[in-house]
Amino acid sequence: GETGAELSAAIRRLKEERDALILSHYYQRPEIQDIADFIGDSLELSRRAATTAAKVLVFCGVHFMAETAAILSPEKVVLIPDPRAGCPLAEMITPEALRARKAELRGPVVVAYVNTTAAVKAESDIVCTSANAARVVRSLPPEKDILFVPDRNLGLYAAAQNPDRKIIFWDGYCPIHDQMRAEDILRAKQEHPAAEVIAHPECRPEVLALADKVASTSGMLRYALDSAAREFIVVTEEGLLHQLRRQNPEKKFHLASPRLVCPNMKRTTLDKVYRALRDLAPRVTVPEDVRERAVQAVERMLALG
Ligand code: 13P
Repeated sequence: GETGAELSAAIRRLKEERDALILSHYYQRPEIQDIADFIGDSLELSRRAATTAAKVLVFCGVHFMAETAAILSPEKVVLIPDPRAGCPLAEMITPEALRARKAELRGPVVVAYVNTTAAVKAESDIVCTSANAARVVRSLPPEKDILFVPDRNLGLYAAAQNPDRKIIFWDGYCPIHDQMRAEDILRAKQEHPAAEVIAHPECRPEVLALADKVASTSGMLRYALDSAAREFIVVTEEGLLHQLRRQNPEKKFHLASPRLVCPNMKRTTLDKVYRALRDLAPRVTVPEDVRERAVQAVERMLALG
């Protein structure tokens, strides 16, 4: 078979021919991050998807990320190298269940984490990511009840920074981040006493309470670059280590637990990226009636700057 280097070269050639842009999340395999035109956190990826002139987007991430690109750019061809790359958190809420809860609560303002399907975004007022959840909550009218879906841990984190707001949570969670416990962090700190702890807000409050910094993937990268610490315990998906180490060759990064691996994020391989570009498939599309409503919630977030 072809070597990784040959495949990467073939992908670069095909990308030019197709006028395509390859977008990658930080949780992707190192070789995918290395061929990407742009790597980012969820917020940066949606901004980039909204503004690029490329005709074709190859989205190396999970399904909701490609869908968000399709919501923002209906005229573009959005490709996902493996359509089975789903997000279990996004599957923890349906538009029907959300509609029922909204009726029960008599019309709350709905904040939807970007890790949701287009159909759930279409039932929501505003989208947020892990980089701006607290700010999105703060932007809402103070007298309104807020229904935050579907990530309870991120909702609790945003609520702690907005103690004056009434927030109702959903029972969703990221199975990868949510499995971390305080004892996992305490054990890692014992092994690496000089290390700072950087954690993603999809972790439980007991884990975040032990962190020196809570941030999105890009926020963790910025923090590691600026910090005077020489060592870090990383409490997020292991893909982030690739950029952390690349940007800070003199610093040490320890994954808090070997369990911090998202199998869906690892479904994307060079071979599948090559085939997606060659075949212009599989494509991600959103029905126009859903898209029209979902785009309002996404654009409301992007308008916050
Ligand atoms: P960020 O990259 O926005 O921190 O989000 C991580 C994530 O949940 C991806 O599924």
